[in-house]
Amino acid sequence: MHPIGVFDSGVGGLSVLRALHAELPQELFVYVADSGHAPYGERDDSHIIERSHAITDYLIQRHAIKALVVACNTATAAAIHTLRAMHPNLPIIGIEPALKPAVAMTRTGRIGVMATRGTLGSEKFKTLYTSLKDQAEFILQPCDGLADAIERDDAAQILRISSDCMQNMGSFGHAPGNIDTLVLGCTHYPFIAPILQNLAGYPIQFLEGGAPVARQTKRIITDHFKLCDSKLASTEPLNTLQFFSTGNSASLFHTVKRWLHSQHTVHSITI
Ligand code: DGL
Repeated sequence: MHPIGVFDSGVGGLSVLRALHAELPQELFVYVADSGHAPYGERDDSHIIERSHAITDYLIQRHAIKALVVACNTATAAAIHTLRAMHPNLPIIGIEPALKPAVAMTRTGRIGVMATRGTLGSEKFKTLYTSLKDQAEFILQPCDGLADAIERDDAAQILRISSDCMQNMGSFGHAPGNIDTLVLGCTHYPFIAPILQNLAGYPIQFLEGGAPVARQTKRIITDHFKLCDSKLASTEPLNTLQFFSTGNSASLFHTVKRWLHSQHTVHSITI
């Protein structure tokens, strides 16, 4: 019963953990929020690579993880190649903005993409974007400060930055020339989808990466290992989860309570 490690710069990866737990209810998960070193989105790659390696080493050494989910678009873009090179025997699953499914869903052909500056500026994103840019029009919107405001649960800042971003992207709706599909390319953003929906003024389609990552993780885990035996798992729905934070553990505690509807202890760690 080795756990699956999951990490993000902070609370955002809980949107992925929620999907992972739904897809793999019998698996054990260890979640690390690197809140003491967040946000990642406006930092240079060397910081993100160093943090991603430190957290991965911690998860391997202290929790003997059997697989790792990088539940952060920014860390995936900056560090997944070096993580895989350094740990060739550890299955590592990353996340990227859901551009491909957005192309399949849009009717107007205009797709908004909200992500961190780091993700949008990365080589990995450029490759993805270049492969799809002839199939739809993408409006790329870096959202400086938004993940940080969500991390701090600062309602006024969340609203201010979100409305600036939505205004920059243009008009939303189902008529030609409008954005009808919005890619949430940062794992923090699904938590503010209702606010974004309000600001859009039309019922637009949101795309986030949690569910596809969870399905991919299930495929990989099934290929590499036996899935955990349901008879071994407890009847308590969420006690297969453990939470650790390098920063403000109260923030993670409250976000877990709010979004996973459970009261888990959050352990403070120094990595
Ligand atoms: N949640 C992260 C992402 O998916 C990063 C947010 C941040 O730390 O800036 O990109």
